Amino acid sequence: MSGTAQIGVTGLAVMGRNLARNFARHGYTVAIHNRSYAKTESLVAEHGDDGDFVPSESMADFVASLERPRKVVIMVKAGGPTDAVIDELIPLLEEGDIVVDAGNAHFPDTIRREKALKEHGLHFVGTGVSGGEEGALNGPSIMPGGTRESYASLGPILEDISAKVDGTPCCTYVGSDGAGHFVKMVHNGIEYADMQLIAEAYDLLRQGLGVSAAEIGQIFAQWNTGDLESFLIEITADVLQHVDAATGKAFVDIVLDQAEQKGTGRWTVQNGLDLGVPITGIAEATFARALSGSVPQRAAGLAALPAHAAEWEVKDRDAFIEDVRQALYASKVVAYSQGFDQIAAAATEFGWDIDRGAMARIWRGGCIIRARFLNRITEAYERQADLPLLLADPYFTDAVASGLPAWRRVVAGAAQNGVPTPAFSSSLAYYDGVRAERLPAALVQAQRDFFGAHTYKRVDREGTFHTEWSGDRTEAEA
Ligand code: 6PG
Repeated sequence: MSGTAQIGVTGLAVMGRNLARNFARHGYTVAIHNRSYAKTESLVAEHGDDGDFVPSESMADFVASLERPRKVVIMVKAGGPTDAVIDELIPLLEEGDIVVDAGNAHFPDTIRREKALKEHGLHFVGTGVSGGEEGALNGPSIMPGGTRESYASLGPILEDISAKVDGTPCCTYVGSDGAGHFVKMVHNGIEYADMQLIAEAYDLLRQGLGVSAAEIGQIFAQWNTGDLESFLIEITADVLQHVDAATGKAFVDIVLDQAEQKGTGRWTVQNGLDLGVPITGIAEATFARALSGSVPQRAAGLAALPAHAAEWEVKDRDAFIEDVRQALYASKVVAYSQGFDQIAAAATEFGWDIDRGAMARIWRGGCIIRARFLNRITEAYERQADLPLLLADPYFTDAVASGLPAWRRVVAGAAQNGVPTPAFSSSLAYYDGVRAERLPAALVQAQRDFFGAHTYKRVDREGTFHTEWSGDRTEAEA
């Protein structure tokens, strides 16, 4: 038996609720289900006029209310709750039906689930959805994985409800099994880097200029009219100008300075280590959150560690602001370049055919890292799809090179004045590392061979070698 709803959503907490409303507003008949029926009822009661909802109390009725092939979107907590819903769904579904996990699942779980559902003749689509509550309702950026066959019927619906930039949907097929959730994970890692870089820019301006949060908010608002234009810069300008009602102080000054995370940044860093991709911007951003929350260490450090730093004297206010802006832009390009490297490495490792230019395109709207400069990334990959280093695309090379003196001044100034800028500094170190003709890695190889006979290669001939360090120091081919 087949019902009439074109798509179903189970899990009606705020994200699921808003996605269901978004589908309904686009004219789809939406089957809705939630573990407690009260939430299902309240959705219909409060937002019934968004469109056609078919509420069900039981999972069986919910599944029966869908037309075939059924498309069921699961929007529950990642991990165990997702598996529990999948287990409940499997016996109720039929061959060719599509199960969509729109939560922030860890991509190895998505690979596992896709394999398991395939054995039941079902399609499993792990999809990244970015944009928070607001995006889910008004148009998120959507990153679906799974089979191309499932995308043929599901894709148009997802494209329909996604954000649009210049009429183009912020949704496209990403790749098989875990590719969608992988790309969403990297999106979140880049989100961490972007946020940390902005936070460091704020700190530099505050400490360098000694001005109020609100004044810095105005600087960010100004930056948002140029190359840095993005959602995160825009909300930063807003947050910095917000005043705490209870105290009359700048809001940012009454917030406890310990940044938390739900874990997607950590996953990104763990995967970067697994793949051997230096995503230093994302890693430093994740560790900066960890440092901020290291309460006993910070108390001990504050009590014992001197700064021996100079008093910061910024002579030319406007020039300093412009330096920080350029350093922020350059560091941001590094973070994205690294994130796109990670996507390329994962595509090779997991057999995904991911179009990186298309990923930048679907991040232009709806998502947290939406930004003007993503157009430039799409253009770079259009010029060369297998670009080995985004930084080396002529546009980005020029853009970063023109800001290089400023970037060096800012990082040097931060070091001299004792302002922690892990993401700015490590991004510059990466830049200098990746452009170096020769790295001290040669010495590391020599050390490894010395203490562990780990061997080395030579610059002047083929082969693998070992030197008898504790003996006569002759070299032998290993
Ligand atoms: C999005 C966000 C979202 C993420 C939050 C919080 O794309 O809409 O990335 O998925 O969960 O931003 O992340 P943290 O709690 O880890 O900072």
